[in-house]
Amino acid sequence: MNSIPMFLKNAKRDPTYIITSTPRSPPFHFFSFSFSFAAIKHQADVDAFFYSTHNLIMMSKVILILGAGPNVGASVAHAFASKGYKVALASRSQKESDNTPSQIHIPTDASNPDAVVAAFSKTKSLLANPSVVVYNVGALTENPPEDPLSLNLEESDFEKDLVINTTSAFVAGQQAVLAFKSLPSSSSKTFIYTGNNLNETIIPGLMDLGAGKSATAHIIRTAAAAYQDEGFKFYYADERTADGGPAWSNINGEAHGKLYVELAEVKEQGPWQQTFVKGVGYVKFPVDGAS
Ligand SMILES: NC(=O)c1ccc[n+]([C@@H]2O[C@H](COP(=O)([O-])OP(=O)(O)OC[C@H]3O[C@@H](n4cnc5c(N)ncnc54)[C@H](OP(=O)(O)O)[C@@H]3O)[C@@H](O)[C@H]2O)c1
Repeated sequence: MNSIPMFLKNAKRDPTYIITSTPRSPPFHFFSFSFSFAAIKHQADVDAFFYSTHNLIMMSKVILILGAGPNVGASVAHAFASKGYKVALASRSQKESDNTPSQIHIPTDASNPDAVVAAFSKTKSLLANPSVVVYNVGALTENPPEDPLSLNLEESDFEKDLVINTTSAFVAGQQAVLAFKSLPSSSSKTFIYTGNNLNETIIPGLMDLGAGKSATAHIIRTAAAAYQDEGFKFYYADERTADGGPAWSNINGEAHGKLYVELAEVKEQGPWQQTFVKGVGYVKFPVDGAS
């Protein structure tokens, strides 16, 4: 019969012990310990105990990606996992049944800011507080280019999109600050919002998207200045073509992953607005054609 002190001692001596001695899912192995499980009534409690104990011993770095899909989300997850990060993926279609000790999946709809708070709580309970947070969700409702103010509040998703593009990103920033405050000084403490060039220019049919991205660019710029002495970094990332135009449907996941890892690894806050080009990295472009 194994005991918790013996288990922890073995795990400390050989961190792989916790993996080799514990089935991944469900972690029923813990029931063989000689302590009472009377206080742990639900599978979620058992999972939380398993994942948090595992993470405590492994002292893992954790990234939370909100809006984790097949392109930018997957590439950023892969780039950070290859640097030893445990990954929390949050989006509407994630399935908790896919969880492993190193990657968790959190069903999250960013149109509800409370769901963003819940995603942070889940990340903390199953992994640890994240040291890197990526807000990659984007939402848009097209408007008639010649009559942008005709969008009807009742019939369109204008308000919902603003919540997704801005309010929930603001809440994610708040949660990130709370998480960063709990981390040791050696941690990265980096928040990255995936933006586009609409904080600097207009595309007449995409006013709704531009309103949200612009508002959040302001929040990111303010946070980058305010928290830099505490070592918390905030970035608005915007992939461009080599001539400074928008990347649009050619947006490259791998280039995002590479830049985001670099931003996380550098200790000091860099330019809050990270306009970048695939294969090149950060490039400062003139605003809207101005020099
Ligand atoms: N720089 C540029 O020119 C440029 C060009 C295009 C896009 N972008 C930006 O890039 C980001 C998206 O990149 P991508 O499409 O390549 O990423 P992705 O990781 O492939 O997909 C993003 C994921 O966000 C999730 N999502 C959508 N609505 C959500 C919601 N309400 N709550 C939670 N998750 C939601 C979707 O997954 P679920 O369906 O599972 O929720 C989607 O798969 C956006 O911020 C967009 O504005 C920038």
